[in-house]
Amino acid sequence: MGNKNTVLKVKNLALSFSTAEGSVLAVRDVSFSLYEGETLAIVGESGSGKTAACRTIMRLLKQNASIEDGEILFEGKDIVKLSEGEMRDIRGNKISMVFQDPMTSLDPTMRIGKQIEEALRLHRKISRQAAKARMLELLQLVGIDDPKRRCRQYPHEFSGGQRQRIVIAIVLACDAKILIADEPTTALDVTMQAQIIDLFKDLQEKIKTSIIFITHDLGVVANVADRVAVMYAGKIIEIGTADEIFYDPRHPYTWGLLNSMPTLDTDTPLLYNIEGSPPSPGNLPQGDAFAPRNPYALEVDELYEPPLFQISDTHYAATWLLDPRAPRIEFPENLEQRRTAYFERFGLDVGL
Ligand SMILES: Nc1ncnc2c1ncn2[C@@H]1O[C@H](COP(=O)(O)OP(=O)(O)OP(=O)(O)O)[C@@H](O)[C@H]1O
Ligand SMILES: [Mg+2]
Repeated sequence: MGNKNTVLKVKNLALSFSTAEGSVLAVRDVSFSLYEGETLAIVGESGSGKTAACRTIMRLLKQNASIEDGEILFEGKDIVKLSEGEMRDIRGNKISMVFQDPMTSLDPTMRIGKQIEEALRLHRKISRQAAKARMLELLQLVGIDDPKRRCRQYPHEFSGGQRQRIVIAIVLACDAKILIADEPTTALDVTMQAQIIDLFKDLQEKIKTSIIFITHDLGVVANVADRVAVMYAGKIIEIGTADEIFYDPRHPYTWGLLNSMPTLDTDTPLLYNIEGSPPSPGNLPQGDAFAPRNPYALEVDELYEPPLFQISDTHYAATWLLDPRAPRIEFPENLEQRRTAYFERFGLDVGL
């Protein structure tokens, strides 16, 4: 990864929401780079700050949100400091976002072909005929059959999965450098999910766009991600290549996530479930926020937050277990079996 071009660099980002209970930090000290053409998955339980972090990159923030600290470097500028006018230029044009519900990105009153053509004409100086031809190509590319007929239809005439494809066609029309997909398959049934994932894989080969893919589904991650960032209580607690996260995970929370993947073989005993639930940002414990749920927690976890320890050029994890003074705890063997069973079930081949 070292010689890849960085398209986006997030440094020490902190975001707070003001609430009835006061100001709460939903994103804490988040740093990562996004490289050209790669897919970075962000995973973590509900409420871990995935959406908040990514909406900050788009500066699509709720009224009660405020950026407390950090930089988001893109094309030599800090997104945090741009005016709303400059931001409008970036949004859609250079950084696009796909949401869970495709309807939020579509205009229900406009034929879908027209919506794609408008996106094309807004972003490039091309003739009406050229836009129409490209629109039909894009519909074909995202897997909408019979585009000549279907381009004349309205969003409600499509299934959820097809609508998500149309949204992706619009994103492609904008020719963005970065695509942020926030759980784009969560609202779809299993078959549709698989198809949209295939579409993302297909696009990765055809276009150079860098993708940030937010999901809580590790199957999706194994399928599409080059690298994975794991978030917990507003922080990135482990980041590495997909191989490192699946085959050499170091944070007990990542072990727990891997352990909770379903397998066909229900006899394989669970080593442990991640018991309890994540703390809310207004109610963080002292020390490591994961400590109360961590079966391997040390005394130091209750006092101090662990730094990100470096494991390789690409792999970092924030757990005191990586401190040289900590007792050595191996990646649970039992987990190894579950992971293999899972990959076999889904025909995945991460790092094999
Ligand atoms: N407008 C808001 N005001 C107050 N708190 C908020 C607001 N939006 C989000 N939060 C809180 O910030 C934290 C992070 O929320 P976020 O939506 O980023 O989580 P997420 O990881 O995307 O979860 P999910 O998987 O459910 O989408 C949560 O604790 C949430 O309750
Ligand atoms: Mg979210």
